[in-house]
Amino acid sequence: MSDKKPYGDDQLKILYTQEQIEETIGALGKKISADYAGLDLILVGVLRGSIYFLVDLTRKMHIPFAIDFISISHYSEQADSTGVVRITKDLDLSIADKHVLVVEDIVDTGLSLGYLLRNLKSRDPASLKVCTLVNVEARRIVEVPVDYKGFDAPNVFVVGYGLDYNEKFRNLQFIAQFDRP
Ligand code: IMP
Ligand code: MG
Repeated sequence: MSDKKPYGDDQLKILYTQEQIEETIGALGKKISADYAGLDLILVGVLRGSIYFLVDLTRKMHIPFAIDFISISHYSEQADSTGVVRITKDLDLSIADKHVLVVEDIVDTGLSLGYLLRNLKSRDPASLKVCTLVNVEARRIVEVPVDYKGFDAPNVFVVGYGLDYNEKFRNLQFIAQFDRP
């Protein structure tokens, strides 16, 4: 079942299998648990793409932590109007004096994350770091720190494991290159 293509879509080319993803997330969970042992940690998941990654990552962690979510409008959706990224769903918890780890599905241009980090920094966390499942260095427009990363992907559009194209493909258990129509 694992690597079947439920959409029967020939436009999908598997880049990272379910097994590779599991192994990578296991290693990340172990490293993060060691790095944050004894610290007051809040994981901030960026909706909606990070949910699969966040859930599986936390299952591999063995330290206490809190979880919260934030949602931001994508830069491209705003480009025709104000060109400004904004928060569409804010955190419920205070992050002041907490160690914050932002959990992202993908860091691509870095525009959304750059905005998000500036915003979160103004709330005075004890520390602020970033963990992303996929990193696409070739597409970076603004420089953003990526402290933990799962995969360095080539400059292609990817779907699966939370990542979508028009809200579809999130439930694929692998990550695939998708050639947009
Ligand atoms: P940014 O370009 O780094 O600001 O990425 C903004 C958001 O666009 C990411 O958090 C993803 O939700 C989405 N995104 C960027 N690249 C891809 C992709 O290759 N596949 C699916 N979603 C993407
Ligand atoms: Mg996102």
